Amino acid sequence: MADNNRTSLHGLWTSRWAFIMAATGSAVGLGNIWKFPYITGENGGGAFVLVYLLCIFLIGVPIMMAEVMLGRRGRRNPVDSMKHLAAETGHSQLWKFLGWTGIAAGFLILSYYSVIAGWAISYVFTTAAGTFAGADAALVGQHFDALTKSPATLIFWHSIFMLITMAVVARGIEGGIEKAVRFLIPALFGLIIVMVLYAMTTSGFAEGLRFMFAPDFSKLTTEGVLKAMGQAFFTLSIGMGAIMVYGAYLPKETSITQTSFSIAIADTSVAVLAGVAIFPIVFANGLEAGSGPGLIFVTLPLAFGNMAFGALFGTLFFILLVFAAWSSSISLIEPAVAWLIENKGFSRLKASIVLGLLTWFIGLGTVFSFNEWSDLTLFGKTFFDLLDYLTANIMLPLGGVLMAVFAGWLMKKSASHDELAISESAYVIWRFLVRYVTPIAVMLVFLNAIGVFF
Ligand code: TRP
Repeated sequence: MADNNRTSLHGLWTSRWAFIMAATGSAVGLGNIWKFPYITGENGGGAFVLVYLLCIFLIGVPIMMAEVMLGRRGRRNPVDSMKHLAAETGHSQLWKFLGWTGIAAGFLILSYYSVIAGWAISYVFTTAAGTFAGADAALVGQHFDALTKSPATLIFWHSIFMLITMAVVARGIEGGIEKAVRFLIPALFGLIIVMVLYAMTTSGFAEGLRFMFAPDFSKLTTEGVLKAMGQAFFTLSIGMGAIMVYGAYLPKETSITQTSFSIAIADTSVAVLAGVAIFPIVFANGLEAGSGPGLIFVTLPLAFGNMAFGALFGTLFFILLVFAAWSSSISLIEPAVAWLIENKGFSRLKASIVLGLLTWFIGLGTVFSFNEWSDLTLFGKTFFDLLDYLTANIMLPLGGVLMAVFAGWLMKKSASHDELAISESAYVIWRFLVRYVTPIAVMLVFLNAIGVFF
């Protein structure tokens, strides 16, 4: 046990850069490009974006720092890291349940994440085939409807995505992800800039910008605030132990503060730019900003169908989106895999197969919620909506707050100060944020959303 603070069973990142890349790879994904625009559209734009940004920097970044820190000190999967840290500080073993709920959240998220990533894979081929050349809004809409109404097609692409995810996880996360993400994220960034340039040429550009950046608080509901907060956790990959596991592989010298900020800034830029690219297209074509999960799948093909070299850019874009989703999905399942290996003596391969099959199976619920089961709702939500709501808006914020409470209240001050290795004043700010701001803000948002305050 003596060397626990130095290394982990699965090796360490080869450099600070490798960790930043892997964590950015985890953060940047469907959450930025698919989810952020569509929920911004559903929640009225500017005011929602503002709350989201506040949540990223006041709640998200401090929690990310706490989570990386817990991982690096625990050096194990989230369950055992929490158990170990609780023992180290003389607190209850029940803290391990934080690891458990995280593993469960990751699972559940991956089950639907894979279905949506499957849509993106199918769009690689449709775009490459030139299906969208010169298309109008009606045609791209029909194409999307036809896809989501076909369970067999959705299951096919969902299966492919689960296969490629588990293939990487089975080989161990160090080699593969590190290398791939290093050029994929910059390339994705570049292509989004191309999209923004195209958006500037459309007649909807000014209106798109206004929609994203001019806050109209009358459009923001209490539920919208909850969703903005949930999205901040989701997009940064925090609150479930994914970042904790990556932190477990982080060398001791690396600055947690700097890396957390870099990741948050990169992640936020991708989301905001995606919005800036998409909303002008929405308005220029008279589409509905609040049309839901299909938003990017009807706006982007329109752009690709009508710009120079559209088929080429479009194919590239969807390929990169699939890669971004891929580098995220790995982190959703890695905590569970690490747990099975460390506790149940599973080989990596066996753990990947078992967990992959299970996740695939739960994913069928999401597949059917777009067709066969689309009328089957609870509280007005389909299976997919419920899963997304429960994980992003409830499980992640709760998990994140518990991490903040542990890091801020239960860990020794000397220990957290030593881990963060920041100046006294920066440390004081961080500690204030995790001890007070984060728990109080999250609780207020929760209470508001369940209607305790009116
Ligand atoms: N952040 C990813 C995205 O935006 C999704 C994701 C990956 C995630 N790992 C996570 C979300 C862990 C929550 C927790 O697409």
